[in-house]
Parts: sequence; C-alpha cells; structure tokens
Amino acid sequence: MSNLGEVQHRFEWDAANFAGIYDDESSIVWRTFNRVFRKAIFVRYDVAMRESTPPDGKSFLDIGCGSGVYSNELARRGAQRVLGIDFSEPMLEIARASAAKLGVAAKTNFVSDEFLKHDFGEERFDISIAMGVFDYLEDPQPFLTKMASLTRGKVLASFPRYSLLRGTARRLRYRLTGRGDVFYYSSDKVSQLARAAGLKKHHLVPIESSGAGVVLVGDNS
Ligand SMILES: C[S@@+](CC[C@H](N)C(=O)[O-])C[C@H]1O[C@@H](n2cnc3c(N)ncnc32)[C@H](O)[C@@H]1O
Repeated sequence: MSNLGEVQHRFEWDAANFAGIYDDESSIVWRTFNRVFRKAIFVRYDVAMRESTPPDGKSFLDIGCGSGVYSNELARRGAQRVLGIDFSEPMLEIARASAAKLGVAAKTNFVSDEFLKHDFGEERFDISIAMGVFDYLEDPQPFLTKMASLTRGKVLASFPRYSLLRGTARRLRYRLTGRGDVFYYSSDKVSQLARAAGLKKHHLVPIESSGAGVVLVGDNS
C-alpha cells in the first residue's frame, strides 16, 4: 500500500479515537493525557484561530479537516462559508454530525476526496488551513502550491519538526502499526516550500511544545 493509502486507512479506522482527543466530556485522565502529551494539537489550534480572527464574512478551506473541529468552530464564530475536505469518510461523518449539533450545517460543506485530486472549479477562499496534514506528505510542494493557488488571503499549515526522542518514537510507532510514514521539516525547509508555492509573504509561528514544529502563516493578499 502507498504511504497515502496507509494514512487514509489509518484515519478511517481511527476516526473516533482522533476526534476524542478534543472531547471535553472525556474522563479527566484522558483529557490531562491529551493536554500534556498532545499539547501541540491544542497549541496549533489556538494559533490558527488567532490568525483567522475575525472570521466574520470570510470563506475558509479546511484541508484534511478530520472531525471538523476547525471548520465548525470557524462557522460558529461567524465565517460565511467553510468547505472541509478529507479522504476519510468516517471523519467526515463525525464532522457533519457535529455541525448539525452546533447549528452550523448550513454554512459548512464536507467533501470526501483526496486534496490533490479534487477539482475546486473557480472557487477561491479567503483563508485555507491544513493542520496535522503535512506530517503525512511524501511530496509536500504540490500540496502547498495548490493551497496557495486556491487562497486570496492567509494560508495556515502546521509542519512537525524532528526531535530525536519524540520524532524517532513516533516514526517507529507509526511504521510498526501500519499507519504510514511521518515526515519532518526544518524551518528553512518550510520557508523554501512557502517561497516556491508563490506565497507573497510568510512567517513561521513556533509551536511551543517539545519537538512540535511550526505553523506557517502565508499571505497572498
Ligand atoms: C491528524 S488529522 C488532522 C485533522 C484536523 N485538521 C485537526 O487538526 O483536527 C489529519 C487528517 O488529514 C486527512 N488527510 C491526510 N492527507 C490527506 C489528503 N491528501 N487528502 C485529504 N485528506 C487528507 C486525514 O484523513 C485526517 O483526517
């Protein structure tokens, strides 16, 4: 199976588990575990929400939207339209159910497809987001270049950095459990990708958690 095939398969069978990381109603032990050992997930969420402020009246593209945590929250905060795309249908089912529960189903649309294969037609977005996605991309350049070409304003994407302890452990765990490979990026590499994608401006926001990496804040405006 290709790496992308393994990643897709992983997020199909693991959808409920991944969605559970954000679940505020889970047990205190699980919540504490996630806040400590998966801190980067919450830090990058805060960065993306801050960089998307104010979302009022804007259109968003949420690539690898997973369980729709970003999409639905942005819609709840006033975004005009949010298109979430993911190749894991079980993730999208959770995203749609959560949109209905939050009363934002009319403003959100969740599409099942692989991002590079999807035809967006003429539609362009004010802000595009890809959080926790570049971790799984063997060839990140076409992905970021397509993101940039679909975006009028900001491009927000997280990139994990290699750390000897966490990086090696994660890579080993993923390989041994058939979850595909993980890819790491230096800050220089992210800047190089951003320039080659044609982004007019960019800066990197460090994710303050051990070995976690950066959020690229690109701007096309
Ligand atoms: C780690 S999850 C992150 C979900 C969400 N962005 C978040 O941070 O809560 C990564 C998601 O990206 C999706 N994904 C990865 N590569 C993709 C691709 N090439 N096309 C569409 N979805 C992809 C996976 O199915 C998975 O749901």
